[in-house]
Amino acid sequence: MGVAKKPLLRHFLQFRDLSAAEFGHLFARTRWIKDKFKRYQRYWPLEDRTLAMIFEKQSTRTRLSFEAGMHQLGGAAIFLNTRDSQLGRGEPVEDAAQVISRMCDIVMIRTFEQEILERFARNSRVPVINGLTNEYHPCQILADIFTFVEHRGPIKGKTVAWIGDSNNVCNTWLQAADIFGFKLNVSTPPGYEVESERSAKNYEPFADPMKAVRGAHLVTTDVWTSMGFEAENEERRKDFEDWQVDAEMMKAARKDALFMHCLPAHRGEEVAATVIDGKQSVVWEEAENRLHTQKALLEFLLLGKVKG
Ligand code: CP
Ligand code: NVA
Repeated sequence: MGVAKKPLLRHFLQFRDLSAAEFGHLFARTRWIKDKFKRYQRYWPLEDRTLAMIFEKQSTRTRLSFEAGMHQLGGAAIFLNTRDSQLGRGEPVEDAAQVISRMCDIVMIRTFEQEILERFARNSRVPVINGLTNEYHPCQILADIFTFVEHRGPIKGKTVAWIGDSNNVCNTWLQAADIFGFKLNVSTPPGYEVESERSAKNYEPFADPMKAVRGAHLVTTDVWTSMGFEAENEERRKDFEDWQVDAEMMKAARKDALFMHCLPAHRGEEVAATVIDGKQSVVWEEAENRLHTQKALLEFLLLGKVKG
């Protein structure tokens, strides 16, 4: 019997850790995996594999999609959080990485600074996935672009408008714009602009959100206050008042523009109920695609480029 070739150790810490060609492969695998799932056909390539999930912030979708996804691929998932593990009592992240990566085959982490995730990855013997940091949320944009492509075909050459805070989700869109070759218009209130080090070639800033959405194929936004920034909540509510995606803003975009939101959403703040619950919104498909795209990601990081 031949010995299976071990795939190279790869991580998904930022969106740009994968190439356009690798995203193409992931999308093809996602379509195949999603189709099999919809037909209730078993696909267990990760039998005996274990995913460790470390959460230092709250989650519904990320936990559920990774945990359910791992089970559906025949493997197991273990949930750890700061409160109940030694991470919350000051065990160095480097030590945790050494131990966890000797017991599990792959790790997903949701934490605060990107640097924590990078320190973990440097000391890990197995692939590490970013499940959201203060800086990035690559798994979200993987699902978002897949969702766009499902509805509208290739995103290359299209225009995406980001309205609101230049947060982790926005920073990830910026990386994706250069990899996929679409234009990203970003409108934030003064004082919340994109940091210069996150800027992209295909990005254009707009002071006026109505101008940012003009001609957009996709309008997207996120909460005004991300996890970890709750102390700024009241101030942000005032500063972001004019950055709500409402019917008037959607009207200024292309007629066939889609609306996306990574969720959880606050109706009446960053998005009007008529928009998120309206015809152009694909937020439920977007959330569901977290499951299918991440299953393809788990397969790729553990088994390499599977053909099928
Ligand atoms: N969109 C997203 O990551 O949701 P959760 O915070 O519920 O995981
Ligand atoms: N920007 C949000 C995304 C939540 C999924 C946050 O970091 O809280």
